[in-house]
Amino acid sequence: MNQKLKPLKGEITVPGDKSISHRAVMFGALAQGTTEVTNFLQGADCLSTIDCFRKLGISIENTPGQIRVHGKGLHGLTAPYEMLDTGNSGTTTRLIAGILAGQPFESVLTGDASIQSRPMKRIIDPLTQMNADIVSLKGNGCAPLHINGSRFCQTCAPFSMKEQAALSCAENHFLHGIHYQSPVASAQVKSCILLAGMYADAPTSVTEPQLSRNHTELMLAGFGADLTSEGTTATILPDPKLEARKIDVPGDISSAAYFIAAALMVPGSEVLIKNVGINPTRDGILRVARAMGGDISVLNKKISGGEPTADLLVKYSSLHGVRIGGDIIPTLIDELPVIAVLACAAQGVTVISDAQELKVKESNRIDTVSENLAAMGARVAAADDGMIIEGGRPLHGAVIDSHRDHRIAMSFSIAALAAEGGTEIIGADCVRISYPNFYETLRALCG
Ligand code: S3P
Repeated sequence: MNQKLKPLKGEITVPGDKSISHRAVMFGALAQGTTEVTNFLQGADCLSTIDCFRKLGISIENTPGQIRVHGKGLHGLTAPYEMLDTGNSGTTTRLIAGILAGQPFESVLTGDASIQSRPMKRIIDPLTQMNADIVSLKGNGCAPLHINGSRFCQTCAPFSMKEQAALSCAENHFLHGIHYQSPVASAQVKSCILLAGMYADAPTSVTEPQLSRNHTELMLAGFGADLTSEGTTATILPDPKLEARKIDVPGDISSAAYFIAAALMVPGSEVLIKNVGINPTRDGILRVARAMGGDISVLNKKISGGEPTADLLVKYSSLHGVRIGGDIIPTLIDELPVIAVLACAAQGVTVISDAQELKVKESNRIDTVSENLAAMGARVAAADDGMIIEGGRPLHGAVIDSHRDHRIAMSFSIAALAAEGGTEIIGADCVRISYPNFYETLRALCG
């Protein structure tokens, strides 16, 4: 531990939740009327979602403090005049694909180099089972994706979906309701299928191996969709009437995670993080940090925009290693890089398993975390589904390659704080994806 480091003291807020911000734009666009969203995350990923929906004919006002999405109803999107660029955002790509599969026009989805190497077969397969026409243009199971939702024939096009079903047209152009047994616990896959299900001819359900984040289920039901959840299965009925609403986005627990870790690691620290989303499908970091001996109080619990939120008071703690695996993994998947950093400050061994999904995030996070931790002097072994970290050894400064992965840049900024000597982070500006003011907040807290 860097002995010269001053304790982190103070009260902060973190930006709006990324997953919830994306969904507010998407569902607002498909609802009738104007959806007002406060505390929207102005990160590059969510701006990609706004950009895509503007190209689909939706007017979106982005003013300081509020965005207004002028929704046109479930069937109100119009053909885009150019390719839809989802930037670095997996959530935009996978969720929008489900919506586009049900539209009466063609579209092409593409994104940056990272997006073009991330697996899309996981949505192509179930959408194809639903009778969607979606192909990976390079044939490698990745974006660019061509989606041909335009197979509505002349006879059927003027009719509503219910009327079309009654016509029992010989053309096989409907999306079909399916029950999909997902091989992965992925909210992006689940949401993609449920969104396509709104355009299907029968109910659609998705069963996951473990429950992933349930923001789609909560928010779509709030917009008026007929959506039910039981255990790890969510079911949606077709052709809902979605109505505009107001959404106040809670602070993102994935962004709070960096300051939770920093406060736990730096002696003498005490940080209050206000208004953080603590949805049980996202709060794994709190459970793990407490199991490691972390002093975290959850204060002022309330419901905001249909989601549980609270203030988190985090105090420096003496930590010990833990085992992290099984059902908790989807609830902290994005926090594992910073949890790995935290494990370096804990006495004993931390074992992370069942986390093979880390390999297909913005970077291969098993590799990018273990290589960068090793560069800082940590004792870490990469495994196929996680990593093993022997904590309690001092870290030293190093040159860190973020691989332009925002969560790697932020996690290693926290590691750098606790290390002896200077650290350089290559591609540090990629934090703009989810937390444009990250360094300002860190600087303010460090005095
Ligand atoms: C997200 C789901 C998760 C998460 C991502 C955001 C979402 O991805 O890692 O950052 O908003 O649905 P997977 O669905 O691939 O697990």
